[in-house]
Amino acid sequence: MNDNRLAFVTGGAGFIGLHVVNQLLDRGWNVRIFDNMVRGDRDRANELATTRGVEVIDQDIRSGGAVARAMRGATHVIHLAADSINKSQADPYSSVDTNMVGSHNVFASAADLGVQRVVYASSASVYGDPKKLPMHEDDELNPLTPYCIGKRTGEDLLRYYERRSGLSWIALRFFNVYGPGQKTTAYYTSVINHFVNRLRNGEPPIIDGAGEQSMDFIHVTDIGRAVVLATESEKANAPINVGTGIDTSVAELARILIDAIGADVEPQFNPRHVLVSRRAADITRAKEMIGFEYSVPVVEGMTDLIRFETNPETPAR
Ligand SMILES: NC(=O)c1ccc[n+]([C@@H]2O[C@H](COP(=O)([O-])OP(=O)(O)OC[C@H]3O[C@@H](n4cnc5c(N)ncnc54)[C@H](O)[C@@H]3O)[C@@H](O)[C@H]2O)c1
Repeated sequence: MNDNRLAFVTGGAGFIGLHVVNQLLDRGWNVRIFDNMVRGDRDRANELATTRGVEVIDQDIRSGGAVARAMRGATHVIHLAADSINKSQADPYSSVDTNMVGSHNVFASAADLGVQRVVYASSASVYGDPKKLPMHEDDELNPLTPYCIGKRTGEDLLRYYERRSGLSWIALRFFNVYGPGQKTTAYYTSVINHFVNRLRNGEPPIIDGAGEQSMDFIHVTDIGRAVVLATESEKANAPINVGTGIDTSVAELARILIDAIGADVEPQFNPRHVLVSRRAADITRAKEMIGFEYSVPVVEGMTDLIRFETNPETPAR
């Protein structure tokens, strides 16, 4: 269908990247993955090269020359490669190199080569602790870690290249992404793995305080669809939240996972003072600009995830 369209996907061998690449291929896109494989799944990327004609370039976004050479011929760029939020606190130097200098290399090359669209993986963490829910794209930003500062800087750099070179871009502010293939170390979704591991050992999940802290969990197949819609959309040049608009509390999450696993336990509450942070996306702009609405409700998505982890051969979404 899109024979002359080539998507250059940085971080394409990562958790979200592989879902994005598969959805692009299903829609007829040609795909070139650019990934240094620090956290990527080399085997799955190579399998896509063999079975579906994906080009795989094992290089680093911190090298501006490598990015510029590898991007030649691409019509669209999807920039997902990044150091994680955890790593940004452990090693801010690496975070700034990858997430700021590396992102700049990607955006500058895209502008110089005249690509038609850059889609950038930003993050809900640019808002910091929200003052109100739902969180709207025009709310004040208060990024708290080098990772979050890098994500905001990435958005600012895109605006710069829009002004300088007419670059067309969309920054997707992903909320709490979960699903098959997620890393057990993922910062915001680590609570899922923690609860699941305890439940599998026959132990109850332990919840700090009343479990009121909440997240907006969005399934990775929905994230993949949002990325494809943003890549193909006519409207551009804005940040867009990608979430469900629903905040799920930690206590609700524990209940969902207990039911999904079928464990015969009740959550335990650890009575101590916790700072309650809550998250939910305002999803109006996503619908208006790129026609995106989530399709996987959290109960269904978590149940699927448990089924997949129990038996990875079950077809995942
Ligand atoms: N997972 C979430 O909940 C979430 C939430 C908000 C935003 N995001 C953003 O979405 C994007 C993808 O996240 P993910 O969860 O798939 O992470 P991931 O770690 O699974 O994927 C990142 C990929 O980038 C590659 N990479 C890292 N540094 C690189 C470098 N210097 N050069 C080339 N490749 C490099 C890694 O090998 C990996 O394959 C990231 O930008 C992340 O910040 C993720």
